[in-house]
Amino acid sequence: MRKIYMDCASTTPVDKDVVKEMLPFSTEKYGNPSSLHSFGREAHDAMEKARENIAKLINADKDEIVFTSGGTESDNLAIKGIAYKMKEEITDYKGPHIITSSIEHPAVMETCKYLGLQGFKVKYLPVDKYGVVNLDNLKKSISRGTFLITVMHANNEIGTIQNIEEIGKIAKEHNIVFHSDAVQSVGKIPVDVKKTKIDLLSISSHKIYGPKGVGALYIRKGVKLEPMIHGGGHEKGIRSGTENIPNIVGFGKACELAKKRLNEDAEHLTILRDKLIKNVLNIEESYLNGHPTLRLPNNAHLRFTAVEGESLILSLDEKGIAASTGSACSSKKLLPSHVLLAIGLNEIEAHGSLRITLGRGNTENEVKYVIDVLPGIIRNLREMSPLWKKPLEIEKWKKEMKK
Ligand SMILES: Cc1ncc(COP(=O)(O)O)c(C=O)c1O
Repeated sequence: MRKIYMDCASTTPVDKDVVKEMLPFSTEKYGNPSSLHSFGREAHDAMEKARENIAKLINADKDEIVFTSGGTESDNLAIKGIAYKMKEEITDYKGPHIITSSIEHPAVMETCKYLGLQGFKVKYLPVDKYGVVNLDNLKKSISRGTFLITVMHANNEIGTIQNIEEIGKIAKEHNIVFHSDAVQSVGKIPVDVKKTKIDLLSISSHKIYGPKGVGALYIRKGVKLEPMIHGGGHEKGIRSGTENIPNIVGFGKACELAKKRLNEDAEHLTILRDKLIKNVLNIEESYLNGHPTLRLPNNAHLRFTAVEGESLILSLDEKGIAASTGSACSSKKLLPSHVLLAIGLNEIEAHGSLRITLGRGNTENEVKYVIDVLPGIIRNLREMSPLWKKPLEIEKWKKEMKK
């Protein structure tokens, strides 16, 4: 059977050139970058080259990049690292205060909740029906104790892009540290930490055709963090532990390719995404979740009345198509997504959602195949659904009443 992968917000295949670059660092060039001998120097040089490539992708300086085990660790290090550093400095009687949004990835959300249990005050900003944070609301939420604003760049479920340039300006005007989880946006849309007033930025390798288990945190020069992992003082003491050289090398190569291909990939993905959305919306009672234009080039998040998301995913899987109901992290819990509830959907609507996230390997033909098979699947599922029959019966009953 034909197999089509359209779940690139969950993870991406590792690029062949990335694998080629990584392999020797397990078999021949296996030195520890802290060692003084030639094996160590070779590993060290490769790590620094990777650091340079990651920095270039976001217009940072090389020494502002710290390697981590991925996006989750970067988010934890950024938020807890600044919180523990700043705690003693906040003298406001209301206590230290963090502002975040109500649609963050669990790596941010759960970290903020954890800090909430430790005495930090956390404001979870609501979003509009498209998933956009209201900037006036953000300004009004700032208090004397606010030391951190953490708002994601692009949402991992609905793909909505936030105005991080303006959020950065607001943070700067109030002398507040600004962190952004850019795991879904880096490598897909331009990110420039110099132009945007970002102090801390989380990146993950496996979302951009690099290996899993490696990521980075951009830390603007002068921003001080409390380390989360103590040990031998690697990564300038911010993140101890022998660096994962093969993965770091792969991550660096993935960033180099992403920078080269940014415009070409975005153009290709936007064409496929728009074709997919336009055609799928021809299905009766189907809707687009997220912003119509301020959205990631690879994200199509759709909703179908009276269709249950998990059944839809399994039916697509039977046709060889891999997609998702929402975020990979929460889809196994069968709880309605907090993002979909935050944009105002009810629980039934939230459960009828489908996330298709395209990758650079997807083709027009594959998109056409999805467009061809989806209406039949939706029709079958609706035929089995009591929710589908009910509104039709109500409509019939309304017509009867009018007679
Ligand atoms: C927005 C966002 N932040 C953080 C993460 C976590 O990244 P990682 O899987 O590298 O830990 C993800 C992964 O899905 C994500 O989409």
